[in-house]
Amino acid sequence: MKQNIESHLEEKRVFKPSREFTKKAHIQSFDDYKRLHAKSIKNPEKFWASEASNLLWQKKWKKVLDWKPPFAQWFVGGQLNASENCLDRHLNGPRRNKAAIIWEGEPGERRTLTYHQLHREVCVFANILKRNQVKKGDRVLIYMPLVPEAVISMLACARIGAVHTIVFGGFSSDSIKDRIEDSGAKVVVTADGGYRRGQTVTLKQNVDQALKDNTQVKRVIVAKRANIEVSIKEGRDVWWHREAEYVNADCPAIPLDSEHPLFILYTSGSTGKPKGILHTTGGYLTGTATTSKYIFDLKEEDVYWCTADVGWITGHSYLVYGPLANGATCVLYEGAPNWPEPDRFWKIIEELGVTILYTAPTAIRAFMKWGDEWPKKHNLSSLRLLGTVGEPINPEAWMWYHTNIGGGRCPIVDTWWQTETGMILITPLPGATPLKPGTATLPFFGVDAAIVDDHGKEVGPNEGGKLVIRNPWPAMLRTIYGDKPRYKKQYWSEVKGCYFTGDGARRDKDGYFWIVGRIDDVLNVAGHRLGTAEVESALVGHPSVAESAVVGRPDEIKGQGVVAFVVLRETHKPSKDLAEVLRKHVGNAIGPIAKPDEIRFAEALPKTRSGKIMRRLLKQIASGATITGDTTTLEDFSVLTRLTKSADE
Ligand code: PRX
Repeated sequence: MKQNIESHLEEKRVFKPSREFTKKAHIQSFDDYKRLHAKSIKNPEKFWASEASNLLWQKKWKKVLDWKPPFAQWFVGGQLNASENCLDRHLNGPRRNKAAIIWEGEPGERRTLTYHQLHREVCVFANILKRNQVKKGDRVLIYMPLVPEAVISMLACARIGAVHTIVFGGFSSDSIKDRIEDSGAKVVVTADGGYRRGQTVTLKQNVDQALKDNTQVKRVIVAKRANIEVSIKEGRDVWWHREAEYVNADCPAIPLDSEHPLFILYTSGSTGKPKGILHTTGGYLTGTATTSKYIFDLKEEDVYWCTADVGWITGHSYLVYGPLANGATCVLYEGAPNWPEPDRFWKIIEELGVTILYTAPTAIRAFMKWGDEWPKKHNLSSLRLLGTVGEPINPEAWMWYHTNIGGGRCPIVDTWWQTETGMILITPLPGATPLKPGTATLPFFGVDAAIVDDHGKEVGPNEGGKLVIRNPWPAMLRTIYGDKPRYKKQYWSEVKGCYFTGDGARRDKDGYFWIVGRIDDVLNVAGHRLGTAEVESALVGHPSVAESAVVGRPDEIKGQGVVAFVVLRETHKPSKDLAEVLRKHVGNAIGPIAKPDEIRFAEALPKTRSGKIMRRLLKQIASGATITGDTTTLEDFSVLTRLTKSADE
């Protein structure tokens, strides 16, 4: 393992925050960060309790943390409502008429919702949910394009204590089906369609497909977005705009226990079945609101743009809950970054006066490829802070972002976290931390992160190991929905007493964390997590496939590309057409992001004598490297020779 995760890269450049930035920042010096971090680690509960007091609680908590490892409860006995904290709380002062959301559709239309207007729309939709029998604790599945209605439906669920589970609009009907079954959702919220690269995406049709033979879902609420024709099933499907005629805008937020579930979000793990990550209310909101404030250094006048979709955790924590709890103005853009031209992002920044941009390394690498002339066409001087998330950012991409987008003046916060952590855990603070391109730097307040070896012992500077978190934090996942044993096994059994992240990393001599990537069977494709087992199970679901093994290989733009080794049943012969059929098949089963970049037909897969596929070897073959390391456990060496040969062709 060591060999995989030790990195030999040494980055010597250091960028200190400018005085200009520092003097207005929430945390103004590295010494302040170090002092406050040390204090917060000594007594994390005190730190988090003081931050939680910035929220509106309908009933104050009795106990900050109840920690019965690995189960945590935060702000026990307290009651609050996430929707009220993101909306109602801002209505009594000058934020009432401030823009909460500035939305731009891919075709170019714009819609601005002030806090007052957003509150009103959320109340209307919460009443629509109630009218359609949604009760506290019920799960509601949301499958939407990135339109304000996506955010409205999330906050409406939160308002009445329903639990939302969002399925990314790019996922297929099979993914919807699995998540409906696992979550037990009885209501689905969707739209007729959405826009992507000038095409319409047929969301309602995908829902219909997923609900064929399903009797569990009683109601589908459909928002009109793309004006495409859809079929409406009498007794099950209703239009959002029609329902709105039957309800008023009066819907008080109900007080909910701090540990009341807020949402379930499915993510890939090392087995075939996605895990339903469960987040609850008080701790999650405290964690996301606090990190948004310090890390994005939010100020009243900022125009903040997180480019993630609501279908991912970044969309939940840093497009919706964190920034809205801070009363920020958030930009929402529906479409592709290069539609109609590769300068769409820069045009939006210029026209809307965006001050903070939070995006993914994969997007930055694509922009680099499209050329410097596109950002140069626009005035980007409104920007004051940049952020990245989702995968390690390579120093060249960091430098390009810093120079071409940030004009050399904007700090970059490289934020490390996960669907499970709910909030950012390792990150620079923009007015305080000296930056080095390629590292997420240091732990946030109250977070005790470490790198340990296979025995759980902390390793020395620049030694590779497993990234773990040694103490609970408020936005941590509470369990895997419906599967406590899997929660324990997956996250709390690898390293005793610690949360295991699944990532490999090292710390440099200054204590900065350099994340190398996943050390389990999870791929990170364009910042999105994909379980190799998920793709494999899709492949063997095709009648031509006997066996398959999926691995990642380095990809210039996407970080990792997907390579599938496929052994066919005897009834089928390898061909280009079949490879294309299989790629499409995976796309239909999971979604276009999971389509293998390459299908390699093989006569057999390299296995150990106990029958385990030797992925390490396949990874080397896929990336065109020569095979190194131990092959003594390999069952049949000739398999390897044949595979390497076909790779050379
Ligand atoms: O491998 C790490 C990588 O993304 C994984 C989490 O993926 P997901 O749950 O989909 O959440 C992505 C958005 C929070 C991590 O285990 N990752 C995320 N951020 C970074 C990162 N790797 C390096 N640097 C980062 N800043």
